[in-house]
Formats: sequence, C-alpha cells, structure tokens
Amino acid sequence: MPIGATVRRLFGPFERPVADFYRGCFVDLDRQVAQLRTWVPDARSILEIGCGEGAVTQKLVAAYPHAQITGIDITPRAGRLFQGPRDRVDFKCMTAADLAAERPGAYDLILIFDVPHHVPWNLHEAIPADARTLLAPGGTFVLKEWELIRNVGHVMCEFSDRVLTGDDVRFGEKAYFEGLLERSFGAGAVAASARIRPWPNNPMVQCRRQAA
Ligand SMILES: C[S@@+](CC[C@H](N)C(=O)[O-])C[C@H]1O[C@@H](n2cnc3c(N)ncnc32)[C@H](O)[C@@H]1O
Repeated sequence: MPIGATVRRLFGPFERPVADFYRGCFVDLDRQVAQLRTWVPDARSILEIGCGEGAVTQKLVAAYPHAQITGIDITPRAGRLFQGPRDRVDFKCMTAADLAAERPGAYDLILIFDVPHHVPWNLHEAIPADARTLLAPGGTFVLKEWELIRNVGHVMCEFSDRVLTGDDVRFGEKAYFEGLLERSFGAGAVAASARIRPWPNNPMVQCRRQAA
C-alpha cells in the first residue's frame, strides 16, 4: 500500500483539513472553480472524471446549485472525504469508458482535474474521446493538469506523487494536452485557457462539443 494512505490515517479526524492544506500548496481549488464558473456559469448535469476523494466535488456542489453531479474514479475511495449535500451528488467506482457506454450525451459539463499524469500515456487519447461521447451537444469539457515546468513546485509535486501515491506519474506540457483535445473535439476546439495559482504549472483548458 502507498505510504500516503498510512500517513493520512494517522491524522484521524484532522485528515480532511490537513489534506486541504496540503492540496493548497499546489493549487488553489477555490480559484480553479471560480475560473470554471467564468467559462460555464451554470450547468444542470456535471460529470467529474477522476474525482478522487471529493475535494473538487465539494466546491462544485456549492458553485453549481442547480446541478446534479456525478463523480467517477477507478478507486473505491471515490468521494470518501466529501462533506456536503448528498441529494445532488453521486459517486461511482467506474471508468469513463463504461459510463460512456451507459450514458452517451448525458452531461453538459465534464471535468477532469489533475488525473492524466496518473494515467499511462498510451491511454491518454481515450480521455477526451470518452468525454466527447459523454457530453451533450453544445456541452463543455474542461481539463486541468499539472504541467511539466521545472521549478520548486514541480519538484515538490513529483516527489509527493511518487512517494505518497506510489504511482509511476509522468507529466506533460500544456500543448500536448491541447493536441489531445483537438484530436477528439476537432481543430480549433480549445476555446480558452487559464493558469491557476499558486504555481504556473496549473493550466486549465476548455473545449466545446459542437451543438448538433
Ligand atoms: C491527484 S488525484 C485528483 C483527484 C481530483 N480530481 C482532485 O482534483 O481532487 C488523481 C485521481 O485520478 C484517479 N485516476 C487515475 N487513473 C484514472 C482513470 N483511468 N480513470 C479515472 N480516474 C483515474 C486516481 O484514482 C485519483 O483519484
């Protein structure tokens, strides 16, 4: 088992605030969701791919009060630390490919935040392809990833990902991810991008599935 799970368990009831503090050393999730809302002010049906233990989901449920939100992850711990209303939020342990087979076109906003560096690179093309299948026509897909920019933040991030999660992480550059999106959504599909504090390594890009 990776040591991260053991370390986190040692914090007992303080696990959630410690996890939030630790995450804030890398990315400001409040700013990330605020940026998202400038692109997509309202949504009815949101899918978060690779939702982890629910830190972003918790921000989304407050930012999108009219939305039903589904968080999926390959870990059975999906949503474990989520604290918020459960009537609009659903967590499932499943892949985007399986959900795409069940519910094509079901979501008007799909997010994937800080996941691709945990996914083997030969599987990257499937991420936007599945998202495109899951999006309703006119819907928006937003990808936020940690970018390979060599600075102190990157050293901290790579160390913590490798040591705490035990994953064989590999980081790419923003242009690589934009290329992935354009191959699934079409040339020129990347409509906007932003960088989220506190590090320049936090690009977030959005693209739209064309309306039918
Ligand atoms: C760094 S965490 C990010 C969690 C969440 N998106 C957030 O920003 O708080 C990366 C997550 O990606 C998940 N993950 C890795 N490979 C995945 C895949 N193929 N499909 C879905 N989730 C995956 C991991 O289980 C982990 O929960």
